[in-house]
Amino acid sequence: MASYDVIVIGAGPGGYVSAIRCAQLGLKTAVVEGRETLGGTCLNVGCIPSKALLHATHSLHEAEHNFAEMGLKGKSPSVDWDQMKTYKSNVVGQNTGGIEFLFKKNKIDWLKGWGSIPEAGKVKVGDEIHEAKNIIIASGSEASSVPGADVTIDEKIVVTSTGALDLPKIPKKLVVIGAGVIGLELGSVYARLGSQVHVVEFLDHITPGMDVDVQKGLLKILKKQGLEFTLGAAVSKVETTKTKAKVTYKLRKDDSEHQLDADVVLVATGRKPFTDGLGLEALGVEMSPRGQIKTDSQWRTNVPGIYAIGDAIDGPMLAHKAEDEGMAAAEVIAGKHGHVNYDVIPGVIYTTPEVASVGKTEAQLKEEGVAYKVGKFSFMGNARAKAVHQGEGFVKLLADKATDRILGCHIIGPAAGDLIHEICVGMEFGASAEDIALTCHAHPTFSEAVREAALACGDGAIHM
Ligand code: FAD
Ligand code: NAI
Repeated sequence: MASYDVIVIGAGPGGYVSAIRCAQLGLKTAVVEGRETLGGTCLNVGCIPSKALLHATHSLHEAEHNFAEMGLKGKSPSVDWDQMKTYKSNVVGQNTGGIEFLFKKNKIDWLKGWGSIPEAGKVKVGDEIHEAKNIIIASGSEASSVPGADVTIDEKIVVTSTGALDLPKIPKKLVVIGAGVIGLELGSVYARLGSQVHVVEFLDHITPGMDVDVQKGLLKILKKQGLEFTLGAAVSKVETTKTKAKVTYKLRKDDSEHQLDADVVLVATGRKPFTDGLGLEALGVEMSPRGQIKTDSQWRTNVPGIYAIGDAIDGPMLAHKAEDEGMAAAEVIAGKHGHVNYDVIPGVIYTTPEVASVGKTEAQLKEEGVAYKVGKFSFMGNARAKAVHQGEGFVKLLADKATDRILGCHIIGPAAGDLIHEICVGMEFGASAEDIALTCHAHPTFSEAVREAALACGDGAIHM
């Protein structure tokens, strides 16, 4: 039996980051991980492999659609799907191996296997019981199925994102259930690879929770890229043969029933916390009705000495949210003041163009009765964006009408996922739109579009 200041259960972005911060703060730390490799959902079957495939297929799109115009002639590249998956696996391997290196560097023990908590202060891995003054649960999440529908996920024909990242061949017809982040990112991957992609979404719009201009703008762009959408449709069943599937859905407006044939069906209807096998019920750890571990503002559960972070608790299921909570919980355990500003957590969708969002949407501000102004700037007015065939999209900045303080920002456009951080930093410092507008931005950069949107909150954008 070994004894630790902290044992973290789960080595995803929440758990591994938390462990590193614990070690940096002088706490003797171990991490329990049941997977063969570190990095959790994000590095193994989430953020990283999906971005590798998005990059590869975006490059294909560039070669097929934009190279000739730039004077780059010749045959378009053909797709070697097995090699593309090898590239993806290599990227994953470099990243998961990197975490192993960081564990060694920070003297963090990896307790290999699935952990449970027989009692507060103890973690069982295999037959061994380890002592821990503090336990941080970072057990993450798993894919949900389709609520109220007759759907069996076999990860061959009917797949979650995990199966979709590793299909044996590129499907001719892919039906995606759910127009959220996973559906649109992986739908884009396969559309670029030549699949006929049809997205069926329960709501009347895509990307729930995002600003309405983003929802409408992105839908238009993705339709132009060849993805088909049926909105306001509830899937009732998915039937499969050995090689095919039939998806039945009802349109909510008139209850009419329709069917779609598919080679593969991707179920992308959200994720739910994964806490199986931890023994939380016996410990009396309080859970929400949605299966999330309940915590206070310092990530403490109701059982002393047990903390929880990341996808397993409330809030957006995002790697960077899990990381921030991981660092903050470590600081709380070390007697410091861990803090996460949940009002400034960016969300990014890695389609082309990218989508990025932080702070309030217009709908939220209206609901809260906040008087606001809108500064909007199209990437068509941004020289750099036009030079790289990415003039689609806009920056929309929302600022308080009276004080000019930035309240939110919503971007569709090139490198939107990087541009948003200028606004995140601004919001953390309580910046006004004028602060951004008065800051010199290098030319020609995409970031000038952010400045122009800020100028549009005042006396007007220059290039519009
Ligand atoms: P996880 O990453 O899920 O890690 C939990 C780990 O705990 C797992 O490795 C699991 O094996 C382990 N574990 C669980 N129980 C036990 C136990 N009892 N004993 C031992 N080990 C255990 N987020 C973004 O911010 N950006 C993106 O681009 C992005 N892309 C995504 C793409 C896909 C396809 C998916 C599915 C998700 C994506 N996400 C993205 C979400 C992101 O992956 C999660 O928000 C993030 O991984 C949550 O981190 P976590 O540490 O809470 O949990
Ligand atoms: P999601 O919550 O983003 O989207 C699910 C979609 O499915 C919603 O639009 C919902 O209305 C729809 N839906 C639900 N039930 C349905 C039904 N019966 N029929 C049709 N549509 C239905 O969930 P998603 O895309 O599965 O992603 C899970 C999590 O992973 C998200 O919380 C997201 O934050 C995270 N993620 C983040 C990424 C990023 O940051 N770039 C990338 C991928 C995932």
